[in-house]
Amino acid sequence: TTPLRIALAGLGTVGGGVIRLLDANRELIARRAGREIEVVAVSARDRTKDRGVDLTRFEWVDDTAALARAGNADVVVELVGGSDGPALTLARATLAGGKSFVTANKAMIAHHGLELAQAAEQAGVALKFEAAVAGGVPVIKGLREGAAANAIGRVYGILNGTCNFILSKMEAEGRDFADVLSEAQALGYAEADPTFDIDGVDAAHKLSILASIAFGTRPGFGEVATSGIRQVIAADIAEAAALGYRVRLLGMAEEAASGLFQRVHPHLVPVGHPLAHVTGATNAVVAEGNFVGRLLFQGAGAGDGPTASAVVADLIDIARGEFGPAYAMPAAALVEPHAADAGER
Ligand code: NAP
Ligand code: HSE
Repeated sequence: TTPLRIALAGLGTVGGGVIRLLDANRELIARRAGREIEVVAVSARDRTKDRGVDLTRFEWVDDTAALARAGNADVVVELVGGSDGPALTLARATLAGGKSFVTANKAMIAHHGLELAQAAEQAGVALKFEAAVAGGVPVIKGLREGAAANAIGRVYGILNGTCNFILSKMEAEGRDFADVLSEAQALGYAEADPTFDIDGVDAAHKLSILASIAFGTRPGFGEVATSGIRQVIAADIAEAAALGYRVRLLGMAEEAASGLFQRVHPHLVPVGHPLAHVTGATNAVVAEGNFVGRLLFQGAGAGDGPTASAVVADLIDIARGEFGPAYAMPAAALVEPHAADAGER
């Protein structure tokens, strides 16, 4: 059997992790996928940067957009980031050229996911973005496939590892916000622009993707009411603790009488609730299905290894010929969400 050939854009935290994972688990992955998965071409900004992996075995492509045609690849993996710019140019060119596309880029999927899903369906190829929500936690697969038979009433959880890392460190160690943020950046958890994390935008990107999958609605990032953790101070956390609560940044989407209600903001979580015990860069998502009951998906929500794990899982699906729709159903079947008025809650 021929290998599945990969062109890889972005060699940072996640891109480097993907190469290391494919190297470390090569044989196991080939057995599970039914064929080898082989990187053939790569691209990033700086060709000279030492990335701790041997890149001499791959074709280097200077122009990221040109990866769509490079190295006789079957699939393009985009790990650059940004809702527009080179990531979107590459996505459009790849799908228009009839190749499958895998990404961890929640900003791009939140803004352009529907267009890209339609392009993938027209071309008869796959668009996959498991790593875009909750890092290594297979929550997209869990909702799209595992819970596919259920009507979901509510989906909510901790969707940003950086914020959860900051809040739980502030709580446990009484440390300052800025000090903990730089630690999260050093560990590779934060976005290139960390205001996306701390202002709740990254969690809102992820929530809009999850809500679309859970409710069969067109993704509506603009309808997510969003606030972050910038205003949370150590005294808030201490006072909440004295009253039996922990502060967590939660994303929540639920069907209200008047429509779909989507919001991201800091919540007081009672200490008896499982989400109160989720610490560090861990993510946890609860989904309530009408037959399955309450599902809890939990695990590492950021970082190189966990995120690479989700990217490579998508590649294994493609190697097996499991394409499926990007969302829970074909793009044309997604319905327009009716944004619920916050006042009605
Ligand atoms: P990163 O460490 O900053 O790496 C980004 C890579 O893209 C770098 O290799 C960089 O090249 C390259 N790049 C940046 N701008 C470029 C441009 N204009 N043209 C060509 N290449 C460019 O980012 P990351 O943390 O790996 O994140 C990548 C994607 O995964 C993002 O969409 C992010 O939201 C998503 N994600 C990240 C995590 C995480 O835990 N880090 C988790 C889930 C999803 P140089 O190395 O040469 O500078
Ligand atoms: N910056 C993101 C986070 C990376 O902290 O959750 C994972 O999507």
